[in-house]
Amino acid sequence: MRPPADAIGTLSLIVGAIAAAIFIGVEGALVFAIWRYRASRHTAGEPATFERNRRLEIAWTAAPALILAAIFALALGTMAEINGAGVAPAMRIAATGHQWWWEFSYDGVKTANELHIPVDTPIDLELTSADVIHSFWVPELGPKMDMLPGVTNHLRLFARRVGSYDGQCAEFCGIEHAWMRIRVVAQTRTDFDQWLRGQVPPAPTQDGNGERVFLSNICVNCHTVRGTSAAGTAGPDLTHVGARATIGAGVLPNDVARMRAWLADPQRYKPGALMPSVPLSAADLDALAAYLVSLR
Ligand code: CUA
Repeated sequence: MRPPADAIGTLSLIVGAIAAAIFIGVEGALVFAIWRYRASRHTAGEPATFERNRRLEIAWTAAPALILAAIFALALGTMAEINGAGVAPAMRIAATGHQWWWEFSYDGVKTANELHIPVDTPIDLELTSADVIHSFWVPELGPKMDMLPGVTNHLRLFARRVGSYDGQCAEFCGIEHAWMRIRVVAQTRTDFDQWLRGQVPPAPTQDGNGERVFLSNICVNCHTVRGTSAAGTAGPDLTHVGARATIGAGVLPNDVARMRAWLADPQRYKPGALMPSVPLSAADLDALAAYLVSLR
């Protein structure tokens, strides 16, 4: 199959070409009539009129109906294609919208905000929401699809080129709707398998102070780090948070300095986000930031 966005692009070109041809034909006829039948000094009085030309009436009713029927048929074909008609998905990934981040679940592995997929592989993305209506949209790959609480929608994903594709929540879902970015990382099958294998093991136990700070504060109420006692599910799974490119679904690049700034005051970078500021000493903040970024 080809990326659904390609099928949408082809249909847009065809419909655009039909619309352009009609525009040029109609405007051309209008300009010609204005020029050819303009009033001159040699004519006077009302121009000639006619009515009840049945053949003309049938023609100008039938022509648009036929054009619309053709576009309708093309649109139905495109919809079937982008839904993956006749092509079985080779992989399923569950995607859940949250205020305001994305959860992606592979077998036994949960990540956030960064969706890794292998190229040349038809993927069935199972979309749902944990709270309000969100909409998954990565324009370079395919159409928008709503994420509804209590409902599972299916979106066919297919990428041909290796690379990173940016997306965005496309349904207003609250104050931080604009900071609900998606990053799709399309990889070769080998690279993808290696990435997925890297996500499976739990976080290694750490001697540093960071893990202790993490486990002894309210972080654990919302976040999971597999391999520790932290098993909260309200916020993103942080087992391998250090390997992600951004913090807060796109608000900050992911490094120790930014992680520390984020932990010190999430509301400064993402006002309204459900993550509270946790009062911590400077030393504890340093240790916590270093710990989280080390979870790769
Ligand atoms: Cu989620 Cu807008």
